[in-house]
Formats: sequence, C-alpha cells, structure tokens
Amino acid sequence: MKKMILSIATAPLLAAATLLVVLPQTGFTAGGGAALEHFSPVRTDRALQRGARTFANYCQGCHTAEYQRYSRLATDIGISEEDMSKNMIFTTDAEGAATKVGSLMTNNMSADYAKKAFGVVPPNLALVSRSRGVDWLYTYMKSFYLDESRPLGANNTVYPNVGMPHVLADLQGWTKPVYHDDGEGHSVLDGFQQVTAGTLSPEEYDSTITDLVSFLDYLGDPNREARHSLGIKVMLFLSLFLVLAIFLKKEYWKDIPHN
Ligand code: HEC
Repeated sequence: MKKMILSIATAPLLAAATLLVVLPQTGFTAGGGAALEHFSPVRTDRALQRGARTFANYCQGCHTAEYQRYSRLATDIGISEEDMSKNMIFTTDAEGAATKVGSLMTNNMSADYAKKAFGVVPPNLALVSRSRGVDWLYTYMKSFYLDESRPLGANNTVYPNVGMPHVLADLQGWTKPVYHDDGEGHSVLDGFQQVTAGTLSPEEYDSTITDLVSFLDYLGDPNREARHSLGIKVMLFLSLFLVLAIFLKKEYWKDIPHN
C-alpha cells in the first residue's frame, strides 16, 4: 500500500521532470544539404558582449532583432546603458534623433530599398537561432565563398545562391570550397581553401563566429537562464512537498487499523 501511494505520487513528478529536461532540446533545424558542424553556445557575459558588438557593427545595417530592447540586452549581458548607447546604437529616428536605449533593436533600412538591393528583405534575426538552430548558423557563417557568377560575388555551401553578401569578408578573407567525388557522381565538400587573407587568422575568425552565434542563441531565448534556475527551485519545492505529503499521510492514517 505504502509503495503504491508513493509511486502514484511520484509518477506525475517524474513525467514532469522528464518533459522539462527533454522539451528545450527538441528544436527544429533546417539544413541545405551540406553537413553541419556541431556548435555549443558560450554563455559568458564577455562572449555575449563581443557577439553583440559584431552584430551591431556588421549585421544590424541590414537585419533587425526587433523583439529585443537595448536596455534588456544591457542588463542581461552586464554592460551599462550608457556604454550601450555609446557603442552599440548607431540608428536614428525619422527626425534624426539618436535611438533611445529603451527602444527595440531595429535599423534604418527600408523594406523597399532592401528589396531593390538584395531581392529580399533581410529577416529579423531575433528568433533565427530557434528557426535554424545554432549548428546551422555556425556552419552558415563559416561557409561563404568566392563566386564571381553571383551578383554580390559570394555564395554559400549551406544556403546555395543566398541573397546575402559575405559581410565578414574583410575579417575572414575569401575562400573557395574543395570537393571530392564520392565515386557515385556526387561531389562531397572536403572543406575550404583560403584564396585571400583577411585581417583575422582562421582561429580568430572562428572565435568571432562563436561569440556571434552565442549572441544569436541568447537573443532567441533571453529568459533561458532565469527560467532554468526557477525550474530547479520549483523541482526542489515539489520534492520537499512530496516528503511533507508522505509524513502527513502517515499522520492521518496512523490510528486506522491496517488489515
Ligand atoms: C548587406 C546586407 C546584409 C548584412 C550586413 C547582413 N545580412 Fe544576413 N541576410 C541578408 C539578406 C538579403 C538575407 C536573405 C538571403 C536570402 O534569403 O537569400 C540574409 C539572410 C541571413 C540569414 C538567413 C536567415 C534565414 O533563416 O533564412 C542569416 C542567419 C543571416 N543573414 C545572418 C547575418 C549575420 C549574422 C550578419 C552579420 C554578421 C548578417 N546576416 C549581415 C543581408 C545582410
């Protein structure tokens, strides 16, 4: 009897715990055929600050991160609002006044201009780590290559014929993909060969992309750290409550004869 009550009480708890552990990991990812590199985001403030800086300098001219406010970002990655307005906010409103720290992370590019220049409007990147997955993003940012046949001179092995130029070409330099034949008429990507050098070494470029994709990962779920620590507290409370409930049950049943 005792055993049965215990297992009835713990079953929903165990099920809830399993769901909490499994659900966040089941994201959807989309690949373009090329193999994706595995990526584990870095969660330190320093890495996220560097990623945020790269995003503001190299991405936000075209992309927005419109569900996020600068002030929230400042708090989350541990920088002051003053530093945020000095070093990360380069946009203005229609009257030319500097964007305020409480604003959403938009940009000044109009949809009409973007369509003319790129054929498509660069998407809002706030949730891209959720839709594409971090492995895809990391591999994508390392898979631009020189292709003179494309209007903007660049192509991408993960996103063939992409409408985005290689905006980090100054840093990475230019590369060309190297393929081999698998014997069945398919070409398989071996890697990339450096054609011209950039200002960063390949290792430095990797670490820039690590910080940038970690930042995009944070943007996709800014509440994650707080949610996880609350989740642990809730589970602790529930376990404590279970013990109390067992003692309470014992107390209620102690004068009733068992048969
Ligand atoms: C010069 C404008 C421009 C800049 C700067 C730029 N992008 Fe893009 N980006 C685009 C365009 C245009 C597309 C849409 C491409 C398409 O759909 O063919 C795009 C698409 C993307 C996508 C794919 C989104 C999806 O799910 O399809 C990602 C990811 C991305 N950009 C990341 C970045 C990052 C990170 C940076 C900064 C390092 C950056 N972009 C800078 C123009 C830009």
